[in-house]
Amino acid sequence: MIVRELRPNVYSLSALDWDRKIFDELVPLPDGTSYNAYLVKGSEKTVLIDTVHPSMSEGFIKALKSLGLTRLDYIVSNHAELDHAGSIPAVLAAFPEAKVLANAKCRSLLAASLDLPREMFGLIQDNGTLSLGDRSLRFMWMPWVHWPDTTVTYLEPDNILFTCDFFGAHLATSELYATEEARVERAARMYYAEIMMPYRKQISKHLDRLAIENIALIAPSHGPVYHRPEFILQLYREWAEDATRPEVIIPYLSMYESTTKMVNYLIDRLMEKGLKVQPFNVVELDSGRFASALVEASTLIFASPTVLDGAHPAMATAAYLVNALKAKAGYAGIIGSYGWGTSMPDNLRSLLPNLNANWFVPVIASGVPKAEDFTALDRLAGDICLANSAAAEPGPTIRLD
Ligand code: FEO
Repeated sequence: MIVRELRPNVYSLSALDWDRKIFDELVPLPDGTSYNAYLVKGSEKTVLIDTVHPSMSEGFIKALKSLGLTRLDYIVSNHAELDHAGSIPAVLAAFPEAKVLANAKCRSLLAASLDLPREMFGLIQDNGTLSLGDRSLRFMWMPWVHWPDTTVTYLEPDNILFTCDFFGAHLATSELYATEEARVERAARMYYAEIMMPYRKQISKHLDRLAIENIALIAPSHGPVYHRPEFILQLYREWAEDATRPEVIIPYLSMYESTTKMVNYLIDRLMEKGLKVQPFNVVELDSGRFASALVEASTLIFASPTVLDGAHPAMATAAYLVNALKAKAGYAGIIGSYGWGTSMPDNLRSLLPNLNANWFVPVIASGVPKAEDFTALDRLAGDICLANSAAAEPGPTIRLD
């Protein structure tokens, strides 16, 4: 647990989880993570904004006491998930006079997950303010980043925005600020992809709302503080907008190498045409890297052998992820080899109702791919290329399904 001063009487308290490898048994953490809480000592009131993962409660309470805290007036809970709210009971045990402030949705979730009585809570209203004496807090409801409960808290006159998960990054680093921008961008992008991407429409609205605010620091509850807020705001604008970049993502696997031959052939043709391509073998899929690749890619080509007249289960899992994350790709296609059943493309496509894409004519080969299959892949490569140039400039007809 490290305590650092952001401004006079405004502190960051970071629990660094250097070794954590996976979050929610779902999200890989190649760089660990951190849980950040913030303490603001106003001239009249002291407020804690969020807490830390419950496994780190003991060190967190010690850190609060190391700041000479004898009284805590409020705990603002921006978001009820336990990596930020899980130490609220420990804080209340140490500072029983503190009142927990949350919006109504967050209060319901907190009351359920922490088994706390509702009377313990004060309610936060959208655009409501709280005076701390020489400073004040303003609360902005920003639901669906990534739960329905989130509040973003703005400290004036310091102009610090405490955003909890919003703009976060799973990154354990000794740096207080996002000075290593390339590293932070990778981590923030993966975090956005895994957690925020399904809600990009709501995120765009929140970004519009924040555009009129004068923000000096963005202080999220995972990863470093943004001392240059425009860095992360601009990235989020690009990630959340509808526009895509010309890039072909190919989740694939093969059982007897036929589908691999088709994939390799297609990749070569696309590269010859100057397109950026990223294949991902889905058998041991790194879901973080895969999700990151989906953030801005224009095109998805699923390449699967046929199993029981459908996609291979590993491909079905990858498709589930694409569908759940609501990838914004505008074009999609299916290729692969089959033995006796020809319904794999239809069955795979039915797993992707959220993928709002134009579909290319599928290319499926009976057994090993033959000359006519490679010719079909040539056509597909041409159509993918046309589609990607068509994104900027409408051109000749593309063969779509
Ligand atoms: Fe970092 Fe939604 O919790």
